[in-house]
Amino acid sequence: MENIKLSIDKAFGFVSEQNVAAYKSQVNEANKALHNGTGKGSDFLGWLHLPSSINEAHLSDIENTAKILRDNCDVVVVIGIGGSYLGAKAVIDALSNSFDWLQTERNSPVVVYAGQNIGEDYLYELQEMLKNKKFGIICISKSGTTTEPALAFRLLKTQLEAQQGRAAAKKLIVAITDKSRGALRTLATQEGYKTFIIEDNIGGRYSVLTPVGLLPIAVAGLDIRQLVAGAIKMETVCGPETAFEENPAAQYAAVRNELYKNGKGIEILVNFHPKLHFIGEWWKQLYGESEGKENKGIFPAAVDFTTDLHSMGQWIQEGERSIFETVISVKASNYTKIFPHDESNLDGLNFLAGKRVDEVNKMAELGTMIAHIDGGVPNLKVELPSLNEYYLGQLLYFFEKACGISGYVLGVNPFDQPGVEAYKKNMFALLEKPGFEAETKAIKARI
Ligand code: PA5
Repeated sequence: MENIKLSIDKAFGFVSEQNVAAYKSQVNEANKALHNGTGKGSDFLGWLHLPSSINEAHLSDIENTAKILRDNCDVVVVIGIGGSYLGAKAVIDALSNSFDWLQTERNSPVVVYAGQNIGEDYLYELQEMLKNKKFGIICISKSGTTTEPALAFRLLKTQLEAQQGRAAAKKLIVAITDKSRGALRTLATQEGYKTFIIEDNIGGRYSVLTPVGLLPIAVAGLDIRQLVAGAIKMETVCGPETAFEENPAAQYAAVRNELYKNGKGIEILVNFHPKLHFIGEWWKQLYGESEGKENKGIFPAAVDFTTDLHSMGQWIQEGERSIFETVISVKASNYTKIFPHDESNLDGLNFLAGKRVDEVNKMAELGTMIAHIDGGVPNLKVELPSLNEYYLGQLLYFFEKACGISGYVLGVNPFDQPGVEAYKKNMFALLEKPGFEAETKAIKARI
């Protein structure tokens, strides 16, 4: 099997190869600090050796639980927010049929999401859709106290119990949470739900290879063993024993820090495959929450091309020159579609006849890269040989490892997220949550 491949040479017109190479010792030290547990946030390094530490019994437990949901449900609702749903959705979307939800002959339940927003219309429509359907719930919350998923869970649990009866509903609910703390753990223990533990030392955005990601992915009928195998491969490739020049995580961390130092404060993750949209969302959380602190950090953005070339393309080509791109490129499509010849050629497209649609897409990719470089946008590329579980497992671990290294090079703790508490405090104060009386008084005086 091949590996995913990082190319950084198209950044060298903007930053020098020599300056990127100069990060070698700093990046190697950062990588070692992760492995020795001597850097910031070292009590959150459980993800580092996670792939290779997953054992057969754990995988079987996840697969067996997935089978119960697969055998008994037409729809499975994954409840969670941030790191508690983005990884699962990224992988499921990337590897499922784009029109999966429309298929009537199905082998797997439809996976839908809740608790990732507080949209009343969204929840109303979800509950209407679930009426009289055989559905199950995977409720994911590490803290077990996050408002959005807790709110969705109360609504959906009540509905499931009403539709199935309390005893049957219990068998269709799985809770993934802390081993002892939090309201979700208390509820799960009391109700006797099947549970999986999120270890203390794994933060939400690094949890895709725990049951947080693996259970929903297995429910969707995807091969979690291959996903883990790909991550194991990258665990070695990105390890501290691999030379800086050969180590994609080290190279990516170095080049993006050098670009940042040279005024490129925005990184745009680009895909040319609509199925990869949520890989971009997962990546934005990983890098945004890990690096955006202490008034620094690259702002992570994401676009879907060629779609967004007809919207954001203008800004990227000619707007403020503070951006660089990282393109996720998929070498080989999974299917073949040949563009047909047309006798009348009224659309003028016969020059494409006989070509694969993917060839057109690849020329769009190449043409865009050259145009953007000409327009002052440095270009990095991560190439996947094809879209499958194995290469996605590689991609996820590569980005996690590079993020840890990059955060250390930047000088921040890549494993905390103190900033996300600010809105919660205000929301609770405005909703007059017991215990927030002083904050309620203070905030009401401001509005
Ligand atoms: O990365 C993180 O830590 C966050 O995005 C969390 O995953 C998110 O806030 C959800 O938290 P919890 O799983 O505790 O409900």
